[in-house]
Amino acid sequence: MYKYIIKGGKPLEGEVEISGAKNAAVAIIPAALLVDGVCRIENIPQISDVTMLLNILKRMGASIRTVDRHTMDIDCSGVTSTDADFDMMRRIRASYYLIGALLGRFGKATVAMPGGCNFGGVRPIDQHVKGFAAMGATVEVRNGLVCADTPDGHLHGCEIYLDVVSVGATINLMLAAVFAQGTTVIENVAKEPHIVDVANFLNSMGADIRGAGTNVIKVRGVQKLRGGFYSIIPDQIEAGTYMAAVAGTGGDLLIKNVIPKHMNCISGKLEEMGVVIEEGEDCLLVRRHGPLRRTNVKTQPYPGFPTDMQPQLSTILCLAQGTSIVTEGVWDNRYKYVDELLKMGAAVRVDGRVAIIEGVQGLTGAPIKAYDLRAGAAMVIAGLCASGTTEIEGIEYIERGYEDIVEKLQNVGADIQCVDIPEAQEDEDIQRIG
Ligand code: EPU
Repeated sequence: MYKYIIKGGKPLEGEVEISGAKNAAVAIIPAALLVDGVCRIENIPQISDVTMLLNILKRMGASIRTVDRHTMDIDCSGVTSTDADFDMMRRIRASYYLIGALLGRFGKATVAMPGGCNFGGVRPIDQHVKGFAAMGATVEVRNGLVCADTPDGHLHGCEIYLDVVSVGATINLMLAAVFAQGTTVIENVAKEPHIVDVANFLNSMGADIRGAGTNVIKVRGVQKLRGGFYSIIPDQIEAGTYMAAVAGTGGDLLIKNVIPKHMNCISGKLEEMGVVIEEGEDCLLVRRHGPLRRTNVKTQPYPGFPTDMQPQLSTILCLAQGTSIVTEGVWDNRYKYVDELLKMGAAVRVDGRVAIIEGVQGLTGAPIKAYDLRAGAAMVIAGLCASGTTEIEGIEYIERGYEDIVEKLQNVGADIQCVDIPEAQEDEDIQRIG
């Protein structure tokens, strides 16, 4: 077990390179199950969620060869099992993509119920199930397993209207529909950049998917996908996290390997707060030298302000002049981290999906915890901005989605270390929880 120790108060200066998008990678890797042949995938982020998914595919019989740190050859032609009931699957949310991919390829799937970040409530998959059922599958949840089957071994094209805009359901139904007989039309879909990326990946292997990035996706079933080469887009949320970090600490940061258009929803808010952002072709120069100003924000599906940036933005709003109102429009309960900010001197009141944030002069270092991936990133930002020393436990959440976060921050002047938690202290924590 490890924790981060941050000595805050240093402006960030220099360059940081953004990795491949986590939420694209965790869909594209299971999507390789649909491909007959080798997929060479580039720009794969080195994060624990990806490692876990690659291990799951290996256990199912896939052959995976590392070309370099961010490039893999994945060949799933040898996979015969439709069963993915592994303990590791219960730890990641994206394991739900194995349902769509297996169902699409074999007409059946038995997959452990997905886990992942817990925002305090249930994370339902009813829209995924509704779509699979409309395509002719029977889907049951038994003993923590999602069991899906088709009477004739095939899914059938149909029209599906999603009742809520869901990233996971959009991608999962796209995966399932690739080999369905006829055309599948999915309406009211999510439009996040990673949805377009998954569609581009599948199309580059021979699928016929149109409309990704709009409200309606049409998938015409094809017979076969063949191997090929694909490079994953840069991670919008990782880039946004570094933008929020330099907005909080002050300084000048060149953020490289981004698609600036994907960042507009985040850049706009930061500019309202007094951050200066210059756009290059595939980079952003982010500067903050004056005071941070208050703003209001509501999280929404893309192209709205992303929920996965809400904790990071709320954290820097704690240091802005005036009162800000943050409304969480996607998840029911995504403010668990606020208690940690209060320990550092923040002034935040949460009422349901709304947080009212009174700007304070400064935060002070404290021992705090990461309760989920983005909340963990927000705690790192809080530590970088605070005076004194902040110790963050629960960093395994952060490492699920941020490649080399410690090294990347050290390179731009942050005083952050990853240190072992002595066993005696771990035992004490376990006893306290027990
Ligand atoms: N929802 C339903 N029924 C469903 C599916 C979703 O009611 O069948 C609701 C959810 O409860 C939520 C809303 O719809 O209120 C949106 O959920 P969505 O399905 O879009 O979320 P997800 O696919 O489970 C992905 C990301 C999350 C990100 C959300 C929203 C992955 C692996 N995860 O989750 O990312 O917050 O979309 O953008 O892509 C993260 O990266 O830290 C993270 C949590």
